[in-house]
Parts: sequence; structure tokens; C-alpha cells
Amino acid sequence: MAVLKNKISLKNVSKTYYLKDRTVEVLKDITLDVKENEFLVLLGPGQCGKTVLLNIIADLEKATSGEIIFADGRPKMGDLGMVFQKYALFPWKTVMGNVEMNQKLKGVDKATRQAKAQEYINLVGLQGFEKAIPKQLSGGMKQRVGIARAYASESDIMLMDEPFGALDAQTRYSMEDEIIKIWEKNKRTIVFVTNNVEEALYLGDRIMLLASRPSYVKKEYIVDLPRPRSYTDKAFLEMRNEIVANTDLDI
Ligand SMILES: Nc1ncnc2c1ncn2[C@@H]1O[C@H](COP(=O)(O)OP(=O)(O)OP(=O)(O)O)[C@@H](O)[C@H]1O
Ligand SMILES: [Mg+2]
Repeated sequence: MAVLKNKISLKNVSKTYYLKDRTVEVLKDITLDVKENEFLVLLGPGQCGKTVLLNIIADLEKATSGEIIFADGRPKMGDLGMVFQKYALFPWKTVMGNVEMNQKLKGVDKATRQAKAQEYINLVGLQGFEKAIPKQLSGGMKQRVGIARAYASESDIMLMDEPFGALDAQTRYSMEDEIIKIWEKNKRTIVFVTNNVEEALYLGDRIMLLASRPSYVKKEYIVDLPRPRSYTDKAFLEMRNEIVANTDLDI
């Protein structure tokens, strides 16, 4: 197999918040590489700093120290596909309006951007719901809009912050299958955050296990199980048990 290039490299990324009455050390020397077109999972307990780390990669927040290197240059504002922990859709805009937003802000003409948006709406299985507004959609459908919107930004890097965390178990399983199908059809570099060991193993090419706060990379797991994976497969369960044994509490 060809050696994949490192698409994003984090070197000793640390983040401390200096509040009036206390300091909160959240990230401590996070060093990791994300390879091109890889599905990398960041697995960590609640409050360990996963969202802060994604926000730093997206340049929505500044690291206290350390650096982030993008092999193809730092994506410009709006050029990074981000799926937020809470859907973060525009509630008054339709599905089409939400998905085409990024291209609209870039000044792409209506016919071109809507054709592109339609492609991704179809990809996530929401055809027929173009004119619906978010409150008319289920949680899983809203999350699909978020994913279509991130894909429609045409960024080759996608950051996903616990996108399925709020879904019921059944919807979550089917969304996990969907995201793998979409990624296999349309490869991007994905950094996917979760606190769920099974989800991490089901999805990831590689898992970086994060420690609880201050968070650092505790261990790396290369998941070389064939896809589609099975939650009940023996090798899957063995890896699951190994990861759980190395995991900090609260996961
Ligand atoms: N702007 C801020 N000022 C001060 N502290 C902050 C700020 N943003 C985040 N934190 C703190 O950083 C820590 C990590 O927060 P973060 O949201 O990244 O956790 P998380 O791993 O995403 O948790 P969850 O699994 O619940 O989503 C928390 O203790 C939080 O209080
Ligand atoms: Mg979070």
C-alpha cells in the first residue's frame, strides 16, 4: 500500500484557559498526524477537550502553544467541512438553504450551487425534503443536513464533533453505516470525535485514545478490521476490551 501523506499534523498542541479565579488546563501536548483520506477517530471521555481540539484545528479557537501544519496550506474560512455537536442549522432556512449556504457566501451562482447542494442532499438520502425547515425534521435527518452541508463546502477535510451523540441507538447505527458509505464513495480526510468505544471501532481506520483532562494522546490503535464491521465480531470485541481497559473513567 502506498504511504499516505500527512494531511494535518498537530505538534505539541496545548490549551489552557486562564479564568479570573482559576486556570483550566484542557489539552497538553497533543501530537498526532491525520493522513490523507483517512477516517481518524478521536476517542475521549466527556469534558476532556475534544470540542476544543476540533475548534483549534478549524481555527475557531487559538492554541496556547504548539502548531498545526496543513500539508496543502491552511484551509480558508468556510473551506473546512464541520459537523457540530449540536446540529447548528439555520432554523429558518430550508434543507436546501442550509446545504447551499457555504457556496452562496462564496458568491457561487444559484443554479451551480443548488445543483451541487442537491447532489449532497441525495447522497445523504434527503431527496424530497429540500423545502423542509429543520423543526420539521427528526434528529437523524437534521444530522444528515449537517453532513450534507459539510460535504457541500467541498472541503477535502471534514471535522465531525460527536455527530451521532444525540441520536437513539437504532438511528445511530444506521447513520454510522451511512457515513462509511458516503466516505467510501467520496473520500475525504475525516477527523471524527466520539466518546463511544464501539462507534470508534466501527468507523475508524485509526483511533487516537485521549486521556481525561488535561488531555493527551494515551494510545493509538490501528483498526485493520475489514468493512462492513460487526459489533459482535470476535476481533472487534477483543479490540474493544483492550481499549476499554486503557480508557479513563467517564467514557
Ligand atoms: N471558552 C472556555 N473558557 C473556559 N473553559 C472552557 C472554554 N471552552 C471549554 N472550556 C473547558 O474545557 C474543557 C473541555 O471542554 P470540551 O467542550 O472541549 O469537552 P468535550 O471533550 O468536547 O466534552 P463533551 O464530550 O461533553 O462534548 C471543559 O472543562 C470546559 O469547561
Ligand atoms: Mg464536545
